[in-house]
Amino acid sequence: AALEVLVFGSAIIDFICYTPRLPAAGETLHGHKFQRGFGGKGANQCVAAARLGSKTALVAKLGDDSFGADYLQQLRLEQVNVQHVERVPGESTGIAQIAVADDGENNIIIVVGANNLLSTDDVGNAKQLFEQAKVLVCQLETPVPATLEALRQFKGVSIVNAAPALAQTPAELLKLASILCVNETEAALMTGVANISSISEATSATERLIDLGANTVIITLGKLGAVCAHKEADRLHSQYVAAPQVPPELVVDTTGAGDAFIGALAHHLARYPERKLVEHIAAACAVASKSVQLPGTQASFPRA
Ligand code: RIB
Ligand code: NA
Repeated sequence: AALEVLVFGSAIIDFICYTPRLPAAGETLHGHKFQRGFGGKGANQCVAAARLGSKTALVAKLGDDSFGADYLQQLRLEQVNVQHVERVPGESTGIAQIAVADDGENNIIIVVGANNLLSTDDVGNAKQLFEQAKVLVCQLETPVPATLEALRQFKGVSIVNAAPALAQTPAELLKLASILCVNETEAALMTGVANISSISEATSATERLIDLGANTVIITLGKLGAVCAHKEADRLHSQYVAAPQVPPELVVDTTGAGDAFIGALAHHLARYPERKLVEHIAAACAVASKSVQLPGTQASFPRA
């Protein structure tokens, strides 16, 4: 089968502490569980698509430490094409310190290490993959110039997940992506509004992002689902897609739910190009809703 989803982006080892609540500044807390996991938004999105049955490939950088070796082995187990996942001599694999509170809230610090070396050259080196793939997915945990080059070279449907968000997103990044996908916090930062918590606030933000250069915009709203929008003849066409309800007592860990959404979105776009965007979004919401009911990032992603 032909390559369906190509991810150009990050791979990070997650160190997850489960804790009663998130610590305040200067505070030490007793957590109740620790788990190491395979994360990074790029690899997460790639594995989410692979688990749903897409033929996937990842272009990414790991360190030549034991984390890098473990990660490469894991990606192979997940059936991801790792021909262009490189372990860089003398570099450290990216890591994330993640705290997950009992109410499901989390915060994350990433030290991306080898991910910083993903470059424009890597686009040329993976030319064959770029020519074959139906859908390209990028994020912002790796250098922006390389991402721009990847988007310039790719001729299929591209998804940019602008995460972690930048206050000043280069307009070219927004223009090059077929679909810009961000969560409510990222959309707020990018548009300079204090807070987005309702469907109508999210819809206004989609319009602002389109005015900043984006084509089609999706803003995910956690348990509410997502809104999507595009402009035609200066008129905004927006739609809201509700997510399946998950009873609060079943929500154990929302880390990586956004990545489950994007990976599933990419899978559905590649597999069912004739369907409507709202159908892809509904399918992606269903996958994300499953992922929040299990701990961890990739470990919690459902299989087809
Ligand atoms: O989106 C979740 C991911 O963000 C985690 O896996 C962590 O690695 C950070 O990159
Ligand atoms: Na999860």
